[in-house]
Amino acid sequence: MCGICLWLAPFVFGLISTGLSAVVTFMTKEIQGRLTSSLEDREKEYRDAPEILTKLAKFHKENPKTYSYETVFGGCAQNIFAGSDTISITLNAIFYYVLKNEQVLRRLCSEIDEAIQSGQASDPITSGQARKLPYLQGVIKEGMRMHSATGLPMWRVLSKGGVVLSGVIFPAGRVVGINSWVAHYNTTVFGEDAALFRPERWLKSHSPPEQLASMERYFMAFGMGSRTCIGKNISILEISKLVPQLIRHYDIRLATPQWTCRNQWFPKQSNFQVTISMREVSRPMS
Ligand code: HEM
Ligand SMILES: *[C@@H]1O[C@H](CO)[C@@H](O)[C@H](O)[C@H]1NC(C)=O
Ligand SMILES: *[C@@H]1O[C@H](CO)[C@@H](O)[C@H](O)[C@H]1NC(C)=O
Repeated sequence: MCGICLWLAPFVFGLISTGLSAVVTFMTKEIQGRLTSSLEDREKEYRDAPEILTKLAKFHKENPKTYSYETVFGGCAQNIFAGSDTISITLNAIFYYVLKNEQVLRRLCSEIDEAIQSGQASDPITSGQARKLPYLQGVIKEGMRMHSATGLPMWRVLSKGGVVLSGVIFPAGRVVGINSWVAHYNTTVFGEDAALFRPERWLKSHSPPEQLASMERYFMAFGMGSRTCIGKNISILEISKLVPQLIRHYDIRLATPQWTCRNQWFPKQSNFQVTISMREVSRPMS
């Protein structure tokens, strides 16, 4: 995007879209704040947890030509847009499928309750503890398999030599891609029941090692290779902590029988409502 477009964006978006305009206005204000306030003060403020925008702004001030204002703006935009809808779509998917499948909900609840009872789950649960709950991890993975947060092919420019796909030669420079939804519903890899939400399929006790390995290779909710999602680890951390926290403290039930999905690169869900109440369970005293 050109510099002028970026400067004008808040005003243009302000006229056509309140949602986007709110984000652009927010970003512009935050960046301006970093650029005008004393970076030394900010650095002191954030010494314990260096804040990324402060770092980007500092880098831009020191290298205005090679690290432009647009790059700072782009970095902000990428983090906000890549990191919010993706997480909300994924959490929606996990909860929708869990709530739709009563046995899954029951099994998940008991895994979490057992972990609490045996002192393996603090409140809030740590990501290390959550990683050790195999069923929870299966539920998360299965939710992301069934409804990955991007719904169009992930494009790649072919390098020297090109590639042969299904007998068709694609030379260097051509663009090919795969949609994770296509990969995730492959019955050769995931089995005849690939269209079903079945977290068990990710358990060592359930699937043979060769199949698990091939499922891992075909799991591309975060993409693949050199352009893999840079937010992957933080996303897994967030989701692994949030899902058990909500399940342990709340009774959540589906209030709408069928959601509506619309793919606009992000396959967004709507018409998905739940009722929620505090869960009445006896928890060990901490
Ligand atoms: C459940 C959450 C998320 C999912 C499912 C997801 C998914 C993806 C996918 C499929 C790609 C394309 C990968 C490829 O082409 O191989 C991607 C790229 C990217 N994601 Fe995520 N993402 C998530 C969360 C986040 C978060 C939290 C951030 C930032 C804080 C983030 C930042 C990015 C960025 C910057 C890229 C571009 C990477 C590049 O091209 O080198 N994502 N993500
Ligand atoms: C499904 O997986 C098999 C086995 O890896 C592969 O040969 C086939 O091309 C895949 N199909 C699609 C549509 O990706
Ligand atoms: C995520 O964590 C793994 C294992 O600790 C590491 O190898 C990988 O580089 C990390 N990925 C990102 C995108 O930070």
